[in-house]
Amino acid sequence: MTVQPSTGPAAPGETPEAMRARAAALLGRARERSARLTALDDGELTAQHSPLMSPLVWDLAHIGSQEELWLVRDVGGREPLRPEIDGLYDAFQHTRSSRVDLPLLTPSEARQYVGEVRDKALDALEGSPLRGRRLEQDGFAFGMIVQHEQQHDETMLATHQLRAGDPVLEASPPPRPAAPVDVGAEVLVPAGPFEMGTSAEPWALDNERPVHTVDLPAYVIDTYPVTNGEYAAFVEAGGYDDRRLWTGTGWEHRVAEGLAAPRFWFRDAGGEWWRRRFGVVEPVPPDEPVVHVSFHEAQAYARWAGKRLPTEAEWEKAARFDPATGRSRRFPWGDDEPAPRHANLGQRHLQPAPAGAYPAGASALGAHQMLGDVWEWCDSGWHPYPGFTMFPYPEYSQVFFGGDYRVLRGGSFGTDPAAIRATFRNWDHPVRRQIFSGFRLARDARAGLDI
Ligand code: AVJ
Ligand code: FE
Repeated sequence: MTVQPSTGPAAPGETPEAMRARAAALLGRARERSARLTALDDGELTAQHSPLMSPLVWDLAHIGSQEELWLVRDVGGREPLRPEIDGLYDAFQHTRSSRVDLPLLTPSEARQYVGEVRDKALDALEGSPLRGRRLEQDGFAFGMIVQHEQQHDETMLATHQLRAGDPVLEASPPPRPAAPVDVGAEVLVPAGPFEMGTSAEPWALDNERPVHTVDLPAYVIDTYPVTNGEYAAFVEAGGYDDRRLWTGTGWEHRVAEGLAAPRFWFRDAGGEWWRRRFGVVEPVPPDEPVVHVSFHEAQAYARWAGKRLPTEAEWEKAARFDPATGRSRRFPWGDDEPAPRHANLGQRHLQPAPAGAYPAGASALGAHQMLGDVWEWCDSGWHPYPGFTMFPYPEYSQVFFGGDYRVLRGGSFGTDPAAIRATFRNWDHPVRRQIFSGFRLARDARAGLDI
């Protein structure tokens, strides 16, 4: 199987041979990306670019450590390569800001380690029947490790965005819409039940399972994510100074951090907005979805606009529900795997695409850019679905249930196609904004007007 830039997660009903080829190709693509994101000098790899992030060399060796644990030791049944380093790369033993002080593998040691692990993981892929045991059924362990590496690749991309200095990453600009776009457009979602989550998607993680029916009243959701131009109007209108727009905790966060605009924005003497993006300073493009805002900022904007954030269920129904068949799709556009025309994924472009740039990726209900571009904050906490069972380890999802986390959906330009689908769930603290986070708005449908 050739590595298409858009090859997605394994599909239901795939043969073990197809799964094996897909897993090998996707492991290869993930490793190429990890290599590109760590093609920096040793000083840059071992530095702490932000207290919010690990040094890049930690992410690299941690990728290898997780791969060794699941693919080499568990599936492959082999002895540990370097048992003495397990604790260093256990995310629960050391906070991100303290990892820079650990006796980590050097960049060249880390590269050698992840290469050795990969050779043995590929042996395990050859040796596994990819069926039988649940961990190996449909190549799940391999899909989980592909997704894990790609998740850390997105985290490393966020570290790149935080680092100072000249640009080191390059990408082509995203596509533009072919025709003028009404950024204020909305979609009416009819009342009724839909199937949320999945029991069929082979590489779905534990928190996406099981499929269950959710009945929602009619609501309206924005066709596009909120753009920079729309968000700038909120800033100009004094949204950051109007306490009434913020919740109590939101206002505390706004004051404590001195927030006045999305992260990485600044204003010149003439009042124009600029941003720094992977080391390049450029005018803020008004038609792109806003990125690098916290949940609290998204919520204040929503109140200013007279709307609200969608719940997680509302987001998923707008993304997946096909009213013609009553089915929930794998992706907004259908069940076909992601192609470059569908969505801005996979670090092909290092910024969100303007609203309206992906008509081929619209959902059955007519919502655009649900996958790719920016993660979208939802007004839902991080909770298990009814019938959740932890698999294969509690530290992926379960230990985070509850708490102050909010759900994010849809992936960003930095998310790999193999690590996203319409059921994929992400979460983070409501104050986080170094991630590639934006949002779209929703509102209740008005009887007699919208319906
Ligand atoms: C699902 C994105 C919240 O990066 O913290 C990586 C993914 N889990 N290694 C994270 C994850 C373990 C996780 N998120
Ligand atoms: Fe991890």
